[in-house]
Amino acid sequence: MSVSPQDLIRPEVLAMAGYHVPSAAGLVKLDAMENPYPLPPELQRALAERLAAVAINRYPAPSYTRLKALVREKLGVPAGAEVLLGNGSDELITMMSVATAKPGATVVAPAPSFVMYDLSTRLAGATYVPVPLAADLSLDLPAMLAAIERHRPALVWLAYPNNPTGNCFARADVEAILAVAPGLVVLDEAYQPFALDSWMDALPAHDNLVVMRTVSKLGLAGIRIGYMAAAPRWIAEFDKVRPPYNVSVLDEAAAEFALEHLDVLLAQAARLREDRGHLAAALAALPGVAVFPSRANFLLVRVPDSTAVAAGMRERGVLIKDVGRMHPLLAGCLRLTVGTPDENAAMLDALRGALAARAGR
Ligand SMILES: Cc1ncc(COP(=O)(O)O)c(C=O)c1O
Repeated sequence: MSVSPQDLIRPEVLAMAGYHVPSAAGLVKLDAMENPYPLPPELQRALAERLAAVAINRYPAPSYTRLKALVREKLGVPAGAEVLLGNGSDELITMMSVATAKPGATVVAPAPSFVMYDLSTRLAGATYVPVPLAADLSLDLPAMLAAIERHRPALVWLAYPNNPTGNCFARADVEAILAVAPGLVVLDEAYQPFALDSWMDALPAHDNLVVMRTVSKLGLAGIRIGYMAAAPRWIAEFDKVRPPYNVSVLDEAAAEFALEHLDVLLAQAARLREDRGHLAAALAALPGVAVFPSRANFLLVRVPDSTAVAAGMRERGVLIKDVGRMHPLLAGCLRLTVGTPDENAAMLDALRGALAARAGR
């Protein structure tokens, strides 16, 4: 008997496009908000030694006690909040989506925002309710409050700063949402090292607040470690849907090592924050380019035709992200990751070239 995917696979999955990651082979890669700086050579050698001693014949100890203690100590989780680790914050998003997807459950988030909120909600079988941002890309607070009132969402996702817009929402708006949300409000602080603003300290004051972070943008995107902090009674429930060995022993050891040398990563983030300012100024000086303010390690810019410009930049050896068709508010927009000074210069050259070619010069 033959069976087809149409017979077997859930319609939500059949309808999905999946998460497309374009090849960056041979290109300057400025499309994924990675930290462009590797660890210094002496730390790379020390890390290699540390990893060589890891017992890869054993399963991880699923309590991850030492890594969690380092996260608490180095990354400022307040006393009274509990920590849960994920295989990247992507997995934490999945875990929260799955655990809360009771029949009829809804999830509210501003739009545009991080695409995995939508994808994970649909995969979990819940209903995703996107609420468009205001024209200036701030939260449309009346619309958010109305959606929360109407849909009584199990989860509200707020990326702080938001991806792909790069801004932090007004704290008073977030407070207003925390005050009325009947479910959990997740502050996704993936870009916190570049924003220097956080909701972590607000955890003790809000039982319905979850703060989620990742080490990806700090310079460890390859090792897939995210963490969330919340009141212990929430963490205890989410921990039940966590695959027991979700963080590998190599990821665990590498993350512990990186946190022991957090100063190096924070210095790299400081460098990127500084270069973000230089890059924004250089971009704003290009005719036809509008730059949005950013608190993240990327810049959102509007150009005359984002698809043509992104293709032109790719031809010139630079990969960035065309977000122009992601949402009407982003029409004509590109998302540019802040790289090294050389990468930023290459990006500016490619952008200049692509704009000139489009204008027929
Ligand atoms: C807002 C936001 N949250 C989470 C993530 C995913 O992070 P991780 O690498 O930890 O899965 C991203 C990645 O781009 C992001 O933009």
